[in-house]
Amino acid sequence: MTRAVDRGEIVAVLSVPRKISVLGIETSCDDTAVAVVIDGEVRSSVIVTQQQLHAEFGGVVPELASRAHSQAMTRALRRVLYEANIDPLRDLDGVAVTSGPGLAGSLMVGVAAAKACSLGYGLPLIGVDHMEGHVFGSALEEGLELPALVLLVSGGHSELVMVDEPGHYRFLGGTVDDAAGEAFDKVARMLGLGFPGGPEIEAAAQGGSPDTVAFPRASVASDLDFSFSGVKTAVLRYLQSAPDAKVADVAASFQVAVVDALMIRVKRALDLESVASFAIGGGVAANSLLRERTVELGRDLNLRVNVPSRRYCTDNGAMIAAAGAYHLERGDRSALDLGIDPSAELMVKPA
Ligand code: KG4
Ligand code: ZN
Repeated sequence: MTRAVDRGEIVAVLSVPRKISVLGIETSCDDTAVAVVIDGEVRSSVIVTQQQLHAEFGGVVPELASRAHSQAMTRALRRVLYEANIDPLRDLDGVAVTSGPGLAGSLMVGVAAAKACSLGYGLPLIGVDHMEGHVFGSALEEGLELPALVLLVSGGHSELVMVDEPGHYRFLGGTVDDAAGEAFDKVARMLGLGFPGGPEIEAAAQGGSPDTVAFPRASVASDLDFSFSGVKTAVLRYLQSAPDAKVADVAASFQVAVVDALMIRVKRALDLESVASFAIGGGVAANSLLRERTVELGRDLNLRVNVPSRRYCTDNGAMIAAAGAYHLERGDRSALDLGIDPSAELMVKPA
């Protein structure tokens, strides 16, 4: 089926600047992620994951996360610089770091490390918003044609954002309760699967039928907002009423309900906005079904879509280095007393 999308004229292409080289540091949640981006290309990327540490709790324990970041940071930095095979004093133009949103203790470790690198190597420092980082994750491999609609879905966020022009992020809708990734993590726990739940549910769903249970596709007051608490409760109730249900079937039925709910809002937003492209970003964008649906949408609407490699969907240092490169090229700098902002808001919300 082909539908007409109001095709916006391309006003700009968001891409990673070619003449700037940056060290990126990301510690907003449970990955100690660092990367070196040289002249717009990812030269090296190291991610020390804490998944095992948090697995027994079924979610991220903030105190454990910050401690693990500080234990991992020095080695991760040494390794990423070694693998990049560069001299930071000569080859880098700046240090970028996630300053928010995220877990306070975790953010502090990254920001402190970035300040140390900035001072030690004599490089400018730039604080980056984590969600802007995810937008750049979608633009790392192929430039993002603007105006673009971007679906940002992670463990802490579910947002539909319009990138009207570089640096301008307009909020269209978001979750009124759980984030999409959080719902995956909680339902995985109910199903006795591991943490993080997204990849576990995706793997379990492969052997199941998505038509087994018709879980709700969540309707909320605003057409562009999301809600995932209803589907979560529906899974719980179903498991109570059908204790012998096959995990694979429930996983597949839940996964398709979440992806449907996301895509329904995406289509509504595309009806309202004039766009040159559509992109997905954040950890949940690593989900195969969401990726397939995005490609199909692009085909059906003859719309350009950016589906970044999985390694640039989940948290990584390259997306922060890329966003930092963009800001450094514009002349933006952070002072050495850069603070953290655990509840930073990137997007302009309607009045
Ligand atoms: O962006 P991200 O790495 O960290 C945050 O900023 O939160 O996203 C992590 C979230 C987790 O909730 C995880 O379960 C989810 O992304 N996730 C997935 C998949 N891979 C990661 N959800 C669904 N399917 C996946 N394949
Ligand atoms: Zn993230």
